[in-house]
Amino acid sequence: MAQEQAVIFIIFGGSGDLAHRKLYPALFKLYTKGYLRQHFAVIGTARRPWSHEYFRQTVSESVANDLGDQAQVASFVQHFYYQSHDVKDANHYVALKKLAQQLNQQYQAQNNQIFYMAIAPQFFGTVAQHVNSEGLLNPDGFNRLVIEKPFGKDLTTARALNDSISATFKEEQIYRIDHYLGKEMIQALPILRFTNPVLEAVWNCHYISNIQITLAEALGVGERAGYYESAGALRDMIQNHALQILALLAMERPTEFTSQAVHQQKEQLFAQLHHYTLSEVDHNFVRGQYDVDRRGYQTAYREADNVPDDSLTETFVAGRIFVDTPRWHNVPFYVRTGKRLRQKATRIDIVFQPEANNIFANYHKQKILPRPTVLTIAIEPRQGLCLTVNGTNPGLGLRNSLQPLSFRQSDGSLANSQEAYEKLLIDILQGDQTNFTNWIEQAYTWQFIDIIRQRWDQITPDFPNYRSNTFGPSQSDQLLAQLGHEWIFGTDSF
Ligand code: BG6
Repeated sequence: MAQEQAVIFIIFGGSGDLAHRKLYPALFKLYTKGYLRQHFAVIGTARRPWSHEYFRQTVSESVANDLGDQAQVASFVQHFYYQSHDVKDANHYVALKKLAQQLNQQYQAQNNQIFYMAIAPQFFGTVAQHVNSEGLLNPDGFNRLVIEKPFGKDLTTARALNDSISATFKEEQIYRIDHYLGKEMIQALPILRFTNPVLEAVWNCHYISNIQITLAEALGVGERAGYYESAGALRDMIQNHALQILALLAMERPTEFTSQAVHQQKEQLFAQLHHYTLSEVDHNFVRGQYDVDRRGYQTAYREADNVPDDSLTETFVAGRIFVDTPRWHNVPFYVRTGKRLRQKATRIDIVFQPEANNIFANYHKQKILPRPTVLTIAIEPRQGLCLTVNGTNPGLGLRNSLQPLSFRQSDGSLANSQEAYEKLLIDILQGDQTNFTNWIEQAYTWQFIDIIRQRWDQITPDFPNYRSNTFGPSQSDQLLAQLGHEWIFGTDSF
């Protein structure tokens, strides 16, 4: 059994979708595994005037699909309390403090508190400010703040947001969630890189030709147009998930695997992202918006609820990023994300340099042409590794073929994103910030993204420009072709 952690959770937005879809099922899993046992309580706060009982019922429903027998669900939800709350009303924080103190006594939660912002970001500052002014921080235990994305929409708004929360919480108390950092295969990246000398030896521009990060989604925007319209794929997926993956792939070796040492390397890496001038953006970044599919079964983005008919929001981005360090001299990191693509696939393809001296070029006039070796790191829905190498087909003569040396974890497609939450919650309970983003990283990544956004805002795109159920606009393939590269995903079989 895991070590139990005593704590009171205070969840702002406790009646909301995020809390019910992700947070409560993950907390329940932690309960079934013993990370949470007796000494914890969860206070859900939101505007709606719910009773404790009604709240518990909604939580039961949200965890009902998960394993757990009914008796276990029933005992779990007994730890849940509800307080109707107006985030702007100081009196409500006084009541909240009283309830938290009472539950702290009742459950012997050792004065530990986790404040979880599952609300719209415009309220983060107000809540943090009241938590401070109404004295909700408990000096005798830990106080941790958990924030969901979006963390601003550009550097200016992110900085304002950061200032507003850091007046109450210190950086070491703030856990900014990027749920990709909770994914199994993303957490595996440092192990892969830094415990296999055979990989570490070739992890540089002398051996690697290009690196491709693909975050492809098959689904459209669904019901999230309200948020998505003000974000777009660049802010929604590249500023955070794609760049965080890039940092883990490209950072220098930390002195040890601690939060401090890892963040130090990531910060340095982000500081060395090559910034484009506005006109260079056109040559290095491509955007798109999905249209109907070829058969007309799937609707266009502009037909989705709450999306204007003339929306210019991008649902696809592909870009070429350079890192200005000797290790990555002239190695393009290609990033690609999009909605309504042919299939859901989150993966990294590391394409090695081709053999410069092909001794088989004139072998019995056969012209054996080796292909580049590729290391694929499959993150979702498949999880695994595949090293694709040149080999031979059996039989007479010498016939080369690509051969996959592959390892696949069992399909974790559905459970994965929830497990990511579980892992991240355990980290928060244990006070480990390694798998969260810090302010400096946020600032650097926004700086990088803002230039692209600024350029895009100057030019009206010709949208929609790709059909649903494809791999995005053709300009995305051209982007790679410019340097003689091609996307591995979509052309391989792993
Ligand atoms: C979120 C984005 O951060 O990640 C969504 O806001 C996106 O637009 C989602 O769909 C994808 O996450 P996952 O875990 O399903 O790849």
